[in-house]
Amino acid sequence: MLHINDLTFRIEGRVLFDQATAAIADGWKVGFTGKNGTGKSTLFRLIRDEIAPDDGSISLRKGRRLGFVAQEAPGTNDSLLDTVLAADTERAALLAEAEHATDPHRIGDIQIRLADIEAHSAEARAATILSGLGFSHAEQGQPCADFSGGWRMRVALAAVLFSAPDLLLLDEPTNYLDLEGSIWLETYLRRFPYTALIISHDRSLLNSAMTHTLALENARLTIQPGNYDTYIRRRAEQRAQIMAGAAKQEAAKRHMESFINRFKAKASKARQAQSRVKMLEKMKDIAIPIEERTTPFFFPDPKPPMAPPIIRLEQARLGYDDKTVLDDVNLRIDQDDRIAILGANGQGKSTLVKAISGRLAVQAGNLYKSKKLRIAYFAQHQLDELKPGQSAIDHIRPLMPDGTEAQIRARTAQIGFGPEKADIKVEKLSGGEKARLLFGLITFAGPHLMILDEPTNHLDMDSREALTQALNDYQGLRQGFAAIHVEMISRLIKDHQMRPGKSDKPK
Ligand SMILES: Nc1ncnc2c1ncn2[C@@H]1O[C@H](COP(=O)(O)OP(=O)(O)OP(=O)(O)O)[C@@H](O)[C@H]1O
Ligand SMILES: [Mg+2]
Repeated sequence: MLHINDLTFRIEGRVLFDQATAAIADGWKVGFTGKNGTGKSTLFRLIRDEIAPDDGSISLRKGRRLGFVAQEAPGTNDSLLDTVLAADTERAALLAEAEHATDPHRIGDIQIRLADIEAHSAEARAATILSGLGFSHAEQGQPCADFSGGWRMRVALAAVLFSAPDLLLLDEPTNYLDLEGSIWLETYLRRFPYTALIISHDRSLLNSAMTHTLALENARLTIQPGNYDTYIRRRAEQRAQIMAGAAKQEAAKRHMESFINRFKAKASKARQAQSRVKMLEKMKDIAIPIEERTTPFFFPDPKPPMAPPIIRLEQARLGYDDKTVLDDVNLRIDQDDRIAILGANGQGKSTLVKAISGRLAVQAGNLYKSKKLRIAYFAQHQLDELKPGQSAIDHIRPLMPDGTEAQIRARTAQIGFGPEKADIKVEKLSGGEKARLLFGLITFAGPHLMILDEPTNHLDMDSREALTQALNDYQGLRQGFAAIHVEMISRLIKDHQMRPGKSDKPK
């Protein structure tokens, strides 16, 4: 289906692919894994012919249709259902033609083809996909323009799934889905009868729905049968084997060297010593694969320390204008708290977080907090608010007005942007790199409280690990901080009998 042959691709002097080769056969469902910024999304652009390789080639079997999610479904006046139905362009074209066709033969052909592609069940299939991705029956009839960008991404995903392409390309689809949506997608992909190549840092998706794993590491591609965990296990085994081989070779070398040193001056053994010198020269070193490094997260200590509790909500009513989303909220946050917020879409997680961070005034009740309290807030949509045209260094510079260039560069490197990445413009950065930069910016001044809204989206597996580590490391500090993960409000709603509001889905 797809052949990648000796692909070489450089960007600004960095080599992303170095004679990378991989082939994907019909029907494979391939999970595509690799660290942040290694070039996964770039490979998709190469496959889609948006950019050309420096060397080598990518070929898709003739006549095969590629399917990918557009950056965003446009906010048109078409209903969600019609938007998804229109994605099957063949069906749409046949239906349009049927309206005007007069030739009885052609009409017959059209009807046969419509039957072949099961056009009669199209609406039901489209509706199933939309409802799996979280749209109620009523919402499916509403125009796209009524929904926010994040929800329109789901419409775009529904459309590409419905169009049933021969090769489906998805770039981190679960980033814009909630838990239910992600589980639904896993199940859908498991049954998907075509070929799929899916970039993901979501272990659950990679493990449950994929038949093969494609890995990008050190600018090379490897593809093997099995899910992500199988890949990780095999990789560890291979590494152990290589290390053992290299150790053995090293021992043999040392043995020969000592023989040479001992006997090279001795006439009777000089020839043997000479032949060992030659053997040594011919020996090729076993290359030990380099582990790509993950930069740890660095959060400066909060200053100044603060007396507990750092925030208290008493009988608070939260909402907008005449709409109450949550009522009678009683909540106290202390230093060292790590609070997770769980809840389905539209339960009011964002509203609670906005109130805590002071971006939404309480409608009734009280909110107490110190004036000195510094809150860092991380949310996905902020990634789009990074300043386009500016690099990581440009973002850090204004925060260090008295810093020397060397100090500014050192601090930028500390948050994950060493010399080769410090000057890349934000819009060119990969998803994971942008998330790193945002983390560096919001925690720059040492916040007392961090509010993290789905912080692990975009981060690769090792970076997720590094983030967990960094959050845990705060525990020992006396002036610790609290992290609220905006995913879990249902428990709060139960505990506090908050009133869940209407879905926050429409804009
Ligand atoms: N025009 C450009 N100039 C310089 N560097 C670029 C440019 N475009 C992309 N890059 C860099 O190329 C690298 C690969 O980017 P890509 O988006 O393919 O990574 P990725 O593997 O998809 O990462 P992630 O997991 O974070 O999404 C990144 O380091 C990115 O900053
Ligand atoms: Mg990417």
